[in-house]
Amino acid sequence: MPQPSSPAELTDALAEVGYLADEGLAAAAFLAVRLHRPLFLEGEPGVGKTALAEALSRVLGAPLVRLQCYAGIDASQALYDWNFPRQLLSLRALGESPDGEAAAAVTASLYTREFLVARPVLQALENAPAVLLIDEIDRADDEFEAFLLEVLDSYSVTIPELGTVRAAVPPLVVLTSNRTREVHDALRRRCLYHWIAHPDPAREAEILRRRIVGLDPRLAYDIAAAMARLRRADLVKPPGVAESLDLARAARELGESRLTPALAEAALGTVAKHHEDRATVRRELARSAPRDAGADGGTGHGDSPATGART
Ligand SMILES: Nc1ncnc2c1ncn2[C@@H]1O[C@H](COP(=O)(O)OP(=O)(O)O)[C@@H](O)[C@H]1O
Ligand SMILES: [Mg+2]
Repeated sequence: MPQPSSPAELTDALAEVGYLADEGLAAAAFLAVRLHRPLFLEGEPGVGKTALAEALSRVLGAPLVRLQCYAGIDASQALYDWNFPRQLLSLRALGESPDGEAAAAVTASLYTREFLVARPVLQALENAPAVLLIDEIDRADDEFEAFLLEVLDSYSVTIPELGTVRAAVPPLVVLTSNRTREVHDALRRRCLYHWIAHPDPAREAEILRRRIVGLDPRLAYDIAAAMARLRRADLVKPPGVAESLDLARAARELGESRLTPALAEAALGTVAKHHEDRATVRRELARSAPRDAGADGGTGHGDSPATGART
C-alpha cells in the first residue's frame, strides 16, 4: 500500500478523501501505519472514529474490513464458522454413508477451505494488506478482548482442521471505543492510543462545508458555534459531528441559509435525541440567530440577538 512519508502528508491525503484530522490524530495514525501497531481511538460518539478507519482505507488503497462489536460477540463471529448447511448438502450428495477409512476421508473433505466462512478478522488476514476496523470494542465483553489480544500479537489464526493462516502483511488495525466501559490495560498496551476530542468550531465548520456541497459558510459556522456551546451544556447526549451534518442537511431541505429560530424548531430532532435535552438545544440553536438578518428580509433591523428568541 502507498505509505505516507510524514504526518503532514497523511493529513493532506485524508483531507482529499474528505476527512479532516488535527495534528495529534494525524501523527498517531501515521505512526500506527509506519510502526505496524494497532491504533486505539477513544472518544465521544460522533467524533469521527469510524470515519477515520474508512478514510485510512481509502488513502492506503487497502480494503476495509469491519468488525462491529456487541454484547456477547464471540470468536466464531470474528474469525470463522463452518458452513454447516453446505457441509450437510455435500454429505448427502456423497450418498450412502461409507465406513472405515472412506468415512474418515469424507469427514476430512468437509473441513476444507471451501466449507469455511471467513468472518472479519480472518478476512483481513487473508486479504492483506487490509484495514481491520474493530468498532466499538467497549460493547464486547472481557473474553472477547482476551481473544483479540492473541490475534493482535501474532496476526495469525489457527484453525485446528486447516492449520494456521498468517497475514502476508499485517493489517492496519483500528480499534474504537465510545468509552461506555474501560478497555483493559493489556489491550491498550499493544496499541497506539489517541483520544479524539470534538473538533473546534473552525474545523467543524470546515468539515460541514466539505461534506455538504454548496453549504453557506455562515450557516456552517453558526452550526459549529452552536454545537460547541451545546457540548459545554449539560446534555444527556451532547451532539457529535454526525448531528451537525444532519442539521446542515436539514437546513438545505428546509431552504434555510442561516440558523434561525424557525430552523432550530423544525430541525430540533436532528440534534436533540432525548426529551430532556430539547429545551436546551432549542435555546442554544436559537441563540445563533443571525444579527444581520436584515439582508434576508423580513426580520427588520435585527439589532438584538433576542430578535427571534421565542420560548
Ligand atoms: N474529522 C472529520 N472529518 C470529516 N468528517 C468527519 C470528521 N469527524 C466526523 N466526521 C463525520 O461525522 C460523522 C460521524 O462520525 P463517526 O466516524 O461515525 O463517529 P464515531 O465513530 O466517532 O461515533 C460521519 O459522517 C463522519 O464522516
Ligand atoms: Mg463509530
